[in-house]
Amino acid sequence: MLIRRKKSWEIREVLATPEAVFLDRRRFLAGTGAAAGLIASAPLRSALGAQDGDPSAGLYPVKRNPAYTLERPVTPEQINSTYNNFYEFGSYKQISKAAQSLVIRPWEVRIDGEVEKELTLGIDELLARMPLEERLYRLRCVEAWSMTIPWSGFAFKALVDLARPLSAARYVRMETFYNPKMARGQRQSWYPWPYVEGVTMAEATNDLAFLVTGAYGKPAAKQYGAPLRLALPWKYGFKSIKSIVRFTFTSKRPVNFWQQVAGREYGFWANVNPEVPHPRWSQATERVLGTNERIPTRLFNGYGEQVADMYAGMKGEKLYM
Ligand code: MTE
Repeated sequence: MLIRRKKSWEIREVLATPEAVFLDRRRFLAGTGAAAGLIASAPLRSALGAQDGDPSAGLYPVKRNPAYTLERPVTPEQINSTYNNFYEFGSYKQISKAAQSLVIRPWEVRIDGEVEKELTLGIDELLARMPLEERLYRLRCVEAWSMTIPWSGFAFKALVDLARPLSAARYVRMETFYNPKMARGQRQSWYPWPYVEGVTMAEATNDLAFLVTGAYGKPAAKQYGAPLRLALPWKYGFKSIKSIVRFTFTSKRPVNFWQQVAGREYGFWANVNPEVPHPRWSQATERVLGTNERIPTRLFNGYGEQVADMYAGMKGEKLYM
């Protein structure tokens, strides 16, 4: 994101799906009218193998919510699972192998701060209590690449309801695990670990805010931020914090990881806007991983209808960085 000045959306040749293979898959998906469930078909599953032994495997695939489908083809799992930002395991894209050292059981999630009753619960208990569904979402990274992903999970609002926040709660602060023994990237002490993100209560309860537990019809691969990560498709990808262990309801606006690292380049809001360039590059277009097409970026990543109202009249806020 920050340090490497080369075009970070460029993927190594070896990782790109040959066009013919990709187009064939598109035709196949178009023909069946399905995407995610089929992409999780047996040959791919064994090729990627990342979720073997996950105790939540029996919960997937979950039912697709038809309100969240897209005109773009789903990014092949092989591409998505080998091109990730997860600085806990290295500050480059090919962290998928290193991320397999992430231990996802036991995994406790703490809900605290301005809530009726603070609460700690295991991920499997949380999964059992939440209404799981599948949604197709776009993801637009601040580095100007994008993907389309079949996420499984539950509406953030369901977790807010479980937490029963007090009226003093104005933001939700989220935190990733901290364990430098397990995650070698966390030994890089110049980063302000643990990774932190924050949203307003309005954002957390917006219909689009989604807590991800699975992808491609099975439990989320570790490199996606298993066992619990956020998906905010109208914001730059860095807001979608991975491997969350804590939700704190608070009256104070959290300062997120990238704001702490480079506050002149990354802000709290980070809403996608093609007309507001990053200080070091344009945000007008994006490179679609899988096809390498370059397409125009849309305001709020195309989700303006669902989210623009939340930002109306917010003068003086840097809404797009
Ligand atoms: N969460 C944590 N804990 N650590 C990270 O390094 N990277 C962010 C976000 N969440 C990151 C994180 C960035 S910059 C992006 S673009 C997305 O995760 C990438 O998600 P993906 O690897 O599933 O595509």
